[in-house]
Amino acid sequence: MFKTLTLSAVAALALSTVGALAAGGEAHTEDFDFSFEGPFGTYDQMQLQRGLQVYTEVCAGCHGLRYVPLRTLADANGPGLPDDQVRAYAEQNFEVFDPELDDFRPAKPTDNFPVNTSVGAPDLSLMAKARAGFHGPYGLGINQLFKGIGGAEYIASLLTGYTGEEKEEAGTILYENTAFPGGWISMAPPLYGDDVEYADGHSTELEEIAMDVSAFLMWTAEPKMMERKQAGLAAVLFLTIFTVLLYLTNKRIWAPIKKKTKAKEA
Ligand code: HEC
Repeated sequence: MFKTLTLSAVAALALSTVGALAAGGEAHTEDFDFSFEGPFGTYDQMQLQRGLQVYTEVCAGCHGLRYVPLRTLADANGPGLPDDQVRAYAEQNFEVFDPELDDFRPAKPTDNFPVNTSVGAPDLSLMAKARAGFHGPYGLGINQLFKGIGGAEYIASLLTGYTGEEKEEAGTILYENTAFPGGWISMAPPLYGDDVEYADGHSTELEEIAMDVSAFLMWTAEPKMMERKQAGLAAVLFLTIFTVLLYLTNKRIWAPIKKKTKAKEA
């Protein structure tokens, strides 16, 4: 009996490993350490602000963020920019089409980041969640709880995963990338390091910039992560106290009856 069980367990393990390898292809996701991982992890506000700068100066040329309202840049659990800076940022960087004016005008905090379909690049608003699932299968949840869902790791790996090899296929230039499924992506390496100048003097090495913009994109995909974790923590605390109270109440309610049975037995 025990032998059959062990055998089938080994077979199942072998099969699932082969399956995982086949599904993963040669794509490799690096395990970056982000501040928002773990049950108590939080966004690093300075990092989100740096990531916003990288997005604006580098990625926004091709990628939109259509589901992200500009005003949320002021969120305390997000980049936390002061309101006047959000207004200035919107006006200076983006134009939106206003159907009432029948013309373009500078963006306001009440607008969303613009859509960008100029080169067919995917919208990045939800990309960090669309590419989640790096830390093992979703069903178990334990790894996601302690290490995060992995979308930010994937984006950072993608941005740092170029090998420098190129090839042309049907008129499109493809770039070899160790994180991209299939190994060849049509996005030219967008970052090389020193692509931006940070006001806070933070390092502008390739890996640092890639992590900053990935953290920012995690926030655009999950702007309420910190509220969610706080609510979860409150719920667990409440349930713990509630359990103790229920246990004590139960004891007290049954105490007279237990006393009686004990007396009878004696
Ligand atoms: C010159 C245009 C251009 C710039 C600049 C650019 N991208 Fe892209 N990006 C693309 C294109 C095109 C694709 C689609 C590639 C494909 O599917 O082969 C893409 C795809 C992506 C993907 C999706 C990969 C996937 O798994 O499907 C991510 C994530 C991404 N870009 C992030 C970024 C970030 C972050 C920046 C800024 C640091 C950036 N891109 C800058 C053109 C660009």
